[in-house]
Amino acid sequence: MNRNDRNTTLYKENNTVTVPEDDDQLLLLEDDELILLEDDEVVDIEDVDGQSVEREPWQIAIVDDEPAVHQATELALKNFVFDSKPLLLFHAYSGAEAQELVAEHPDIAFILLDVVMESNDAGLRVVRYIREELNNKRVQIILRTGQPGEAPEESVIRKYEINDYKLKVELTRQRLITAAIAALRAYRNTIAVEQKTAELTQTLQTLQHTQLQLVQSEKMSALGNLVAGVAHEINNPLGCISGNLAYVTDSIQNLLNFIQLYQADPNSASLLTKEIEAIELEFIREDLPKSLNSISLAFERILNISNSLRVFSRQDKDNKTLFNIHEGIDSTLLILKHRTKANDRRPAIVIIKDYGLIADIQCFPGQINQVFMNLLANSIDALDEGSQGKGYAEIEASQNIIAIRTAMVEDRIIIQIKDNGCGMKPQTRDRIFEQGFTTKEVGKGTGLGLAIARQIVTEKHGGTIVCDSTLGQGTTFTISLPIAP
Ligand SMILES: Nc1ncnc2c1ncn2[C@@H]1O[C@H](COP(=O)(O)OP(=O)(O)O)[C@@H](O)[C@H]1O
Ligand SMILES: [Mg+2]
Repeated sequence: MNRNDRNTTLYKENNTVTVPEDDDQLLLLEDDELILLEDDEVVDIEDVDGQSVEREPWQIAIVDDEPAVHQATELALKNFVFDSKPLLLFHAYSGAEAQELVAEHPDIAFILLDVVMESNDAGLRVVRYIREELNNKRVQIILRTGQPGEAPEESVIRKYEINDYKLKVELTRQRLITAAIAALRAYRNTIAVEQKTAELTQTLQTLQHTQLQLVQSEKMSALGNLVAGVAHEINNPLGCISGNLAYVTDSIQNLLNFIQLYQADPNSASLLTKEIEAIELEFIREDLPKSLNSISLAFERILNISNSLRVFSRQDKDNKTLFNIHEGIDSTLLILKHRTKANDRRPAIVIIKDYGLIADIQCFPGQINQVFMNLLANSIDALDEGSQGKGYAEIEASQNIIAIRTAMVEDRIIIQIKDNGCGMKPQTRDRIFEQGFTTKEVGKGTGLGLAIARQIVTEKHGGTIVCDSTLGQGTTFTISLPIAP
C-alpha cells in the first residue's frame, strides 16, 4: 500500500480548544499558552459535531523518515482547527515520496519537512523540486532537522523561499501549533493575494479593452471628420469643373465647326457671318477664358485640399521633425470646413486668425494636428450647443467665433484657441482632461479628445495645455510648446 494514502483527518474536541466569551479570540492550549487569533479566525465551538467534515480541510504534509516523528506530530496537531477548518494530514517517509505527494496534491498548505532522509540533502531536493519544477510558490515549507549542524545555509533558505526552520527538539506541541497557525495564515494570505491578482488582471484586461474601443471610436470620429471634410471640399470644385467643362467642350466644338466652314469656302462672307451669329462668337470670346480660369481655380482648390490632407495626416517618423504650426492649423480648419460652414440652424462660424511671426518647431506633426483637430472640433460642438434655442438672426448678430492666435515667446510657441460657445461649469472644467470624461450624449462624445491632446502636448512634446472657461461665455485653450525639444 502506498504510504501517501495514509492520511488522517483530525477534528477539534471541546476539551482542547476553547473560546473565551469576550471579544478577543484566544486559543487556549493545554499548557495555558495563549495565541491571539485574528477576527476572521474565529474558532467556532458549535460546529465540532462532525458537520465540519464537509468543510474543506487544510492539507498538511509531514515528511520524515522516522515514523516516530510522524506519530508525535500527528498527536501534537490532533484536534487542531484553524478558521473553522480541520487538518488533513499526508505522510511521506522519503524525499522521493514527498515529491510524488506534493505533485499529486497542489493544494497542500504547508509541509513539515525533514532535511536528512535517504540522503543528507533529500529535504532540500524536495524544496528545489517544489519551487523550481512544480513552480509551487504557495505551499509553506517548514524545515525540521535533528541536529543544529544540519541547518541549511541562509542563501538556500532565501533562494527556495523556505518559510521557517526548526530543530526537531524545538517542536513541542505549542511551538508546533504556533508554527502551524503562522504557516496557515501565510498560505491563506498567499491564496487571497493570488485571487485578488487574478481579479485585478481581469479588470485591467477589461479596462484595456474598453480603452481600445474608446480610442478606436475617437479615431473613427476623426476619420469621419476627415472623410466628410474632404468630400465637402472636393465636391464644389468638382461640380465647377464638370459644369464648365461641358460649356468649354460645346464652345470648342462650335469654333471647330466654324473653322471647318471657313476652310470649305473662305470667300462666303454671308455664310460665315451667319455662323458667327449662330455660335455667339462674341460671347465665346469673352466667356471661354473665364470658364478656363474657373477650371484652373477649381483645380487649385483640389490641389489645396490634397495638400492639406497630406499635411494633416502626416505619418510621424520616430524622430521629431520641423513643422510649421500655421500649416497644421490651416489644414485642420480646411478639413473641418464642412462643420464650420452655415447650416439651417446657424450661419457659418467666423474664423479669426491672428498668426504671429513664429519659428517652425521640432515635433511630431501628425500628433500636433490631432491636438488642433480635437480642440477645434470641441469648439464647434460648444458653438453648436450654445446656438441651441437661439434664432438664426440672433446668432447672426452676435456671431459664432473661433479665434486662433499664435505667438512666439522666447523659446516657446503659444497657441490660443478661443470660442464664444457654451462654456463650462467649473466642476466640468476641472475634469475635462480625464480619460473618458464627457458631457456629450452617447455616440457623440468619447471623452478622449482632451485626454489625448494633453498627453500629446505634455508627455510627447514637453509642453503645457491649460483651459479657461466661463459658462455661457466661452472657452479658451492655451497651448505652449517648446520650439526645440
Ligand atoms: N471648447 C469647449 N467648450 C465647452 N466645453 C468643452 C470644450 N472643450 C471641451 N469641453 C468639455 O470637455 C469635455 C471633454 O472633451 P473631450 O475630451 O474632447 O471629449 P468629448 O468631446 O468626446 O466629450 C466635453 O464633453 C465638454 O464638456
Ligand atoms: Mg472632443
